[in-house]
Amino acid sequence: MEIDVFTLFPAWFAWFTGQRHVANALARGHRLELVDPRTSTPLGAGQVDDTPYGGGAGMVLRVDVLDAALRARYGEDPVVVREHRRVIALTPGGRLLDDELAAELAAEPALTLLCGRYEGFDERILDHLVTEQVSIGRYVLAGGELAAMVLCDTVLRKLPGALGDERSAAEESFSPSLGGAPEYPHYTRPAEYRGWGVPEVLLSGHHGQIRGWRLEQSRRRAAPDAPEGW
Ligand code: 6GU
Repeated sequence: MEIDVFTLFPAWFAWFTGQRHVANALARGHRLELVDPRTSTPLGAGQVDDTPYGGGAGMVLRVDVLDAALRARYGEDPVVVREHRRVIALTPGGRLLDDELAAELAAEPALTLLCGRYEGFDERILDHLVTEQVSIGRYVLAGGELAAMVLCDTVLRKLPGALGDERSAAEESFSPSLGGAPEYPHYTRPAEYRGWGVPEVLLSGHHGQIRGWRLEQSRRRAAPDAPEGW
């Protein structure tokens, strides 16, 4: 997997790329590269944004700046790039990121993520230079960087070999193996703490019963008001 993140704040990602699961993915040959549109801007003084036509607060990322940045990176017209590569703008109103979208993106050989800042993107970027818009929730962040890290985190941990134990990715919350339901509860030692016990079945060593109990718990979490045995 090869991920390019276009951001005006590449240094922010140093913390993220130092996370163990991210560092592991990079060590196994995956790539996460940061591209700063300021370095390729056709405008003077590193300008990348401008005041909105029609007035209003904030600044808007310019379409010519993003066009130049994508062209410099890929050596072809960005309008053509998006025909063979998913180019994702992170926007509050985009397609909501969920486990299904994360799995879909993890199956791609390459992704491009565009982080907006300030008031966001000139609409022509969204219309002509990207394939889609993704949001991590219906609230507004100051910029797309945190959202890009969230997206990269969930995508990278789905790549084969990302986790120590492959089962933990396959059978986690919202995965197809749990029918899209949240994960079942986990317990570890001590078996009793302040009078708070652990479900007996987990201590039984009976794998069939444990499996059944876990699936039932997962189903109940998906539909907490459903009758027993649903
Ligand atoms: Cl992707 N970007 C910004 N700026 N705010 C967001 C978001 C993205 N997702 C939720 N809020």
